[in-house]
Amino acid sequence: MNATTPEKTGARIVVPVALEGRGYDIHIGRHQLCEAAALIAAFAPGAKAALVTDESVAALHGAAFETCLQQEGISVTRITIPPGEASKSYAQFVALCDALLAAKIERNDLVIAFGGGVVGDLTGFAAAVLRRGVRFVQVPTTLLAQVDSSVGGKTGINSPHGKNLIGAFHQPALVIADTALLDTLSEREFKAGYAEVVKYGLIDDPDFFDWCEANWSRVIAGGPERDHAVAVSCRAKAAFVARDEREEGDRALLNLGHTFAHALERLTSYDSARLVHGEAVAIGLALAFRFSQRLGLCSGQDAIRVSRHLDHVGLPSRLRQVPGGAGSAEEIVNAMAQDKKVKRGVLTFILARGIGKSFIAPGVAADEVRAFIEAELASKD
Ligand SMILES: NC(=O)c1ccc[n+]([C@@H]2O[C@H](COP(=O)([O-])OP(=O)(O)OC[C@H]3O[C@@H](n4cnc5c(N)ncnc54)[C@H](O)[C@@H]3O)[C@@H](O)[C@H]2O)c1
Repeated sequence: MNATTPEKTGARIVVPVALEGRGYDIHIGRHQLCEAAALIAAFAPGAKAALVTDESVAALHGAAFETCLQQEGISVTRITIPPGEASKSYAQFVALCDALLAAKIERNDLVIAFGGGVVGDLTGFAAAVLRRGVRFVQVPTTLLAQVDSSVGGKTGINSPHGKNLIGAFHQPALVIADTALLDTLSEREFKAGYAEVVKYGLIDDPDFFDWCEANWSRVIAGGPERDHAVAVSCRAKAAFVARDEREEGDRALLNLGHTFAHALERLTSYDSARLVHGEAVAIGLALAFRFSQRLGLCSGQDAIRVSRHLDHVGLPSRLRQVPGGAGSAEEIVNAMAQDKKVKRGVLTFILARGIGKSFIAPGVAADEVRAFIEAELASKD
């Protein structure tokens, strides 16, 4: 399939993640909860399972999924965490590990992460360390988690020092993305996840960016375009992960927009009422292109095209759109300096020579970044 041909409605799409000894499949399609349960049962016959979810997902979809799992003979203990980024914390991590031990989850059992990126990252990290590592399955329920966080094995929690600073690589054993679950997602959360979809086009797939410009409203509406967007995104992510599982090379391109985004999330205290991760990524993508333009790398036309698409979709693309303000240039640069992409005080950015032409730029001077952010904060565009 190429980036411009949607899959047929109702077809299940399987995307393999080719990792030697740790490979797995991503199953994508609508109304897959009972198929998910059957796949899990086939994968781990007789295993007990802990179903980790958040309160909102539990209320909407928990009972339906549990019924499917029980029909497949899987005995399930449900563990529920509060929704929101604040749950990626030491406190929730400790509570989850203890709840998994109390549920008597053994090395041969399964932990199922049923929720968005918060549930997936926290649960994956607990699974990575529980009894020195138990198998876990990702059943992502947000667009962001289906196209990004459920794939690739990055797990972790936040520290007061910054986002995702405590964690482990632990690949899931299976990923099942039921795109019908996204029907209950708020428009705001759906659009936030869409920022990560657009990112794949901007990194290295200009045809997919064209497709996004033409089809974004159908991705939101559901149907074959939504499944197509999830599949293209998963294929792109799977390819990066297979080439560079531990981000020693070009997997870092997936961080396009994220150095800015993580700083903004930190400065807004991970308060989802102000900014959710995908919204921060949207601003970060637009900033990465405008910064590239300022450095003479990318045309103004391409930078405008990126912001315009985000604006059409209803995503933020400017620092002034951060509710309550993004902070001063100094504060933003200092917040960036905590990011993992900082090596010995020098900032590494993902910049672009155009749409679909991103590259890793190590050694970007903090003064250049500060001057750019000052200009952005002063801009009325
Ligand atoms: N591990 C990775 O590779 C990776 C990649 C990208 C992002 N992330 C992380 O993912 C997190 C963001 O994930 P997210 O955007 O999914 O946020 P989230 O998990 O907080 O979910 C967003 C909100 O949607 C609700 N929700 C989830 N599924 C729903 C559904 N089907 N219907 C209705 N409501 C639903 C949740 O309860 C929550 O309130 C961040 O912590 C980010 O750092 C990780």
